Amino acid sequence: MASILMAAAEGLPFVKTGGLADVIGSLPAALAEMGHEVKVVLPLYKKIAEKNFQDLTYCASYTVNINYREVPVTIYSQTVGKVAYFFVQHQGYFERDALYGYLDDGERFAYFQKAVIEMLNQLNYWPNIIHCHDWQTGMIPCMVKETHSSDSRYANIKFVYTIHNLLFQGNFGPEMTDSCLGLPYYLLDNGNIRFDGGVSFMKSGILYADKITTVSPTYSQEILTPQYGEHMEAVLNMRRYDLWGIVNGIDTAVWNPNTDPALPYHYNKITMSKGKAQDKAALQKELGLEVNPHVMLVGVVSRLTYQKGFYLMLEKFQELANAPIQLAILGTGEDAIQNAFRDMENQHKGKVCFYRGYNEDLAHRIYAGSDLFLMPSLFEPCGLSQLCSLRYGTLPLVRETGGLKDTVTPYNEFDKTGNGFSFSNYNADEMMNTLNNAINVYYNRPEDWKILQMNAMNKDVSWQNSAEVYNRLYDTLM
Ligand code: ADP
Ligand code: GLC
Repeated sequence: MASILMAAAEGLPFVKTGGLADVIGSLPAALAEMGHEVKVVLPLYKKIAEKNFQDLTYCASYTVNINYREVPVTIYSQTVGKVAYFFVQHQGYFERDALYGYLDDGERFAYFQKAVIEMLNQLNYWPNIIHCHDWQTGMIPCMVKETHSSDSRYANIKFVYTIHNLLFQGNFGPEMTDSCLGLPYYLLDNGNIRFDGGVSFMKSGILYADKITTVSPTYSQEILTPQYGEHMEAVLNMRRYDLWGIVNGIDTAVWNPNTDPALPYHYNKITMSKGKAQDKAALQKELGLEVNPHVMLVGVVSRLTYQKGFYLMLEKFQELANAPIQLAILGTGEDAIQNAFRDMENQHKGKVCFYRGYNEDLAHRIYAGSDLFLMPSLFEPCGLSQLCSLRYGTLPLVRETGGLKDTVTPYNEFDKTGNGFSFSNYNADEMMNTLNNAINVYYNRPEDWKILQMNAMNKDVSWQNSAEVYNRLYDTLM
């Protein structure tokens, strides 16, 4: 069994902007359940300082060098179940309204990574493996290997780097090589950390980690191509024999329609028809939709960005408005998408509801109360929303890409297999045809619909299988 430190920029139950937080909130516990010693390190954001500070324990204070100054670091910790969480505290860098999106993000996360590396020394804690997630922690393998190789305590550590979304790469100007990262300029010149003339945290993670993973087998293949590679495909191809695709799971204790505190009515596989119908009626009422058990309710819970495929919906604005469905949309993001959804709601009150914002509880009620869940992504490394829908007996309609392809099996009308609906090409007609097929099954083959719902609820969306694959991966490094 290994001692593993996970380094990430967000994680439940403390802070979340997307699926990364769900993974950091659930994978460590699943690995700890298997016998590994797992710890997690996160920045101490304002939200955590405000909500959890009284529960945190002081661990250490020291400094790291950023911009040729010694900058203070304070480490706190809290244990949740079997997993210890460390927090890197610096008010100026992290106690801000948002997590990311600042001009000094490069400096902020260079600081975080340096603080994590020095934390091991300060706490005299030497994990076998540091498992880094996404660009915000991509420099850790490089910084350890390039600047601590003569110290055997550091040199013995192995590194796993997980790509949750290749789109976000952490590419910054070349000047930060020395000033923030404390690395020699020849690593820029020889190309090790250089990308597009600057420093790339993502590229460095891919190049220096001992193993690279991404969050589904299909995405691990897609990113080797120019279509999905976000200009990193050449680097990824160099490391393709160390690249694993391991599909995400969800925390099935949190996502459980039989106990979920956000739901007005609870249900399991046996009581699904009644419970879901009650949750649907309650949701229709809550969102100002016509309360009608017979009309098909289509849900969306998402960041509203081009990644998620909503431009296909905008292309079919009229057809969607005329289709015999209701739409419940929860999300925030790009103005063009928000404005179109707002127009759709204004023109079709009672049939379309667009709730602009982030609302955890409402998300649970949409997963439970909808009949169909729409996720026509342009690309999707894994996707957790379709897993939540499956768990709640709501059939996902997805594009066959990344983790969506690996987790949703399309309806087969002959042998009644499948747990949802899917289409192949990023094309609005294909999406609309697939939606029309789903509408047809819903209204004209209700027995088949029930079978698909049962298949959905029977699908294992827990971490069990994938935690075993991570286990094998760690084994190869030990
Ligand atoms: P991504 O990480 O690319 O945004 P995922 O499907 O992996 O996509 O994870 C998204 C997570 O965030 C899911 O748990 C989903 O329920 C949640 N989520 C997304 N948008 C919202 C929102 N507006 N309100 C509440 N939860 C949301
Ligand atoms: C990213 C991806 C999403 C994935 C999540 C967790 O946000 O966009 O597909 O599910 O990370 O791995």
